[in-house]
Amino acid sequence: MKSTILLTGGAGYIGSHAYLALVDAGYHVLILDNFCNSRPDVIDRLGRITGKPVDHIEGDIRDAGFLSRVFADHRIDAVVHFAALKSVGESVVKPLEYFDVNVGGLVTLLGVMNAAGCKRMVFSSSATVYGIPDKTPTPETAERRAMNPYGQTKIDGEEMLEWLQASDPSWAVGILRYFNPAGAHASGLIGEDPRGTPNNLMPYIAEVAIGQRPEIAVFGQDYGTVDGTGVRDYIHVDDLGHGHVLSLAKLLETGQGHLANLGTGRGYSVLEVIAAYARAAGCELPHRIVDRRPGDVPVYCARTDVAADLLGFKARHTLDDMCESSWHWTQSSLSDGA
Ligand code: NAD
Ligand code: WQD
Repeated sequence: MKSTILLTGGAGYIGSHAYLALVDAGYHVLILDNFCNSRPDVIDRLGRITGKPVDHIEGDIRDAGFLSRVFADHRIDAVVHFAALKSVGESVVKPLEYFDVNVGGLVTLLGVMNAAGCKRMVFSSSATVYGIPDKTPTPETAERRAMNPYGQTKIDGEEMLEWLQASDPSWAVGILRYFNPAGAHASGLIGEDPRGTPNNLMPYIAEVAIGQRPEIAVFGQDYGTVDGTGVRDYIHVDDLGHGHVLSLAKLLETGQGHLANLGTGRGYSVLEVIAAYARAAGCELPHRIVDRRPGDVPVYCARTDVAADLLGFKARHTLDDMCESSWHWTQSSLSDGA
């Protein structure tokens, strides 16, 4: 019988792509989202892509009564937990909201899962837990250091999950640290959909390419990198979705937890990303060097051997694929008013 997976945050950027990968792998998936950072029409769009109805339920991971009813009404085998707040800058201004959703919400969800006897979770963590890493490519064994409240919530989540597994070996959690997710589904129906001014590089470039913003501000050109601009390990969101399928399969098969980076192992500078996007969009992309952004790290790049050896994971998509699919999504979402 097909396993049933509860996908929290499944209407969001990464969750919606993971939904498609999980359905494709044969899982029955129930999306749970409160749409605080996503649009309800993502559900219809997922249905258009799969050609099947999308099981979903609107609600909040902080609501224990609601979650208990979800677990009473469905036999859930595992949870893939994306629901969280994710803006570093906002977390500095509103730390309590981040602690409430990302830490409190996780505690509530784990309590309900425990009571229901559902003890399998894939958890969205982030390369941000490495702070300023001592070495790149960065291995999973590197020290965890919070640089902001958002990063602290991911460290708290990881540590809670580790203590939980230590206290009760019947729990098994896959902790996945994503590097820089980018790109969109080939259909052009789902993609990154930030509210207001994008914080991240790729969606900002997309808005310049489509003419919504005049130029890209490049945050610093005095880092010790190939061209002086910040280097990141961008990973296609479809590859991330596939990584979740592998992590989940491993948990369900072995009953053992794991911790793995999800990246490509290859870094690109800001100027290299701008050049790749310009190729994809077939236009010049105006940009200007400005001061460093406070708190930025010069280089983030993943060691990928644990994900390869443990999960059989290897990112398949290139930076050009990420830029081309982002551009396709940007154009189609503008034309159909998403
Ligand atoms: P997103 O904001 O697009 O998706 C998160 C989803 O969770 C949204 O649909 C939102 O409505 C929902 N949500 C938030 N709070 C909720 C609550 N209290 N109850 C129910 N639903 C709630 O973000 P994303 O980029 O898809 O990120 C998904 C996960 O991956 C997050 O945990 C994030 O911290 C992590 N992550 C993201 C990145 C990145 O750069 N995007 C990198 C590393 C890790
Ligand atoms: C990438 C590079 C910037 C915007 C953030 C979070 C991290 C994780 C992923 C969730 C850097 C430069 C950016 C711009 C620029 N999220 N840049 N102009 O900072 O690696 O990571 O998202 O877990 O926690 O911190 O990603 O896309 O913001 O920046 O020059 O307008 O692009 O300085 O070098 P970052 P990013």
